[in-house]
Amino acid sequence: MKFFLDTGEINDIRELAETGMVDGVTTNPSIVAKSGRKFVDLIKEICATVPGPVSAEVTALDYDTMMKEADVLRKIAKNVAIKVPLTVDGLRTCKRLSSEGTMVNVTLCFTCGQAILAAKAGASFVSPFVGRLDDLGVDGMQLIDDIVGIYENYDNFKTEVLVASVRSVEHVVSAARYGADVITCPPSILRQLYAHPLTEKGLASFAKDWEKTGQSIL
Ligand code: E4P
Repeated sequence: MKFFLDTGEINDIRELAETGMVDGVTTNPSIVAKSGRKFVDLIKEICATVPGPVSAEVTALDYDTMMKEADVLRKIAKNVAIKVPLTVDGLRTCKRLSSEGTMVNVTLCFTCGQAILAAKAGASFVSPFVGRLDDLGVDGMQLIDDIVGIYENYDNFKTEVLVASVRSVEHVVSAARYGADVITCPPSILRQLYAHPLTEKGLASFAKDWEKTGQSIL
């Protein structure tokens, strides 16, 4: 299972990349706006920090302009994955870019039907948004279970299921339970994955007992 960071905060990316747990990064126009950074500069810096796929999203809605934007973005670095929306023009762009060997992440996926189209268009990744479905009272993780199951029926579907719009540690664990390929989560959730009060408590009592021995390993 791969972990991507869903952020444009370069300090978080640098810090967490050092743990060796970060396999890639996803961004979107809202994340770029929040970072306050120039889009191309930000993607260049992230690509130099994390060797894995870095998703950079087109903002145009029509095929011709999406292709022009993708041409700018894919020149930034070899590990850029072009993010396109799950629309007719987005999938047409996906098919073209994929046939040219460019990684594509098809975003804003909310149904199995959409996920099937993304796989047929040759996407490297499809991003179902579980949190936004949960917000509507629909079980987002059920969609992940369904897409993973459908993709397993077809050897020619190479698209990886990238769980997006992640709001909790439970989302990460469920994604693993259902066999999702990738999870992209905010830095805070990756940090929360490490935490348990019994780990802290156990560590404190080990330290206290070790002190009593008067020994030092080094
Ligand atoms: C990832 O690719 C998405 O852009 C992101 O996970 C969306 O998350 P949100 O629903 O919390 O905005």
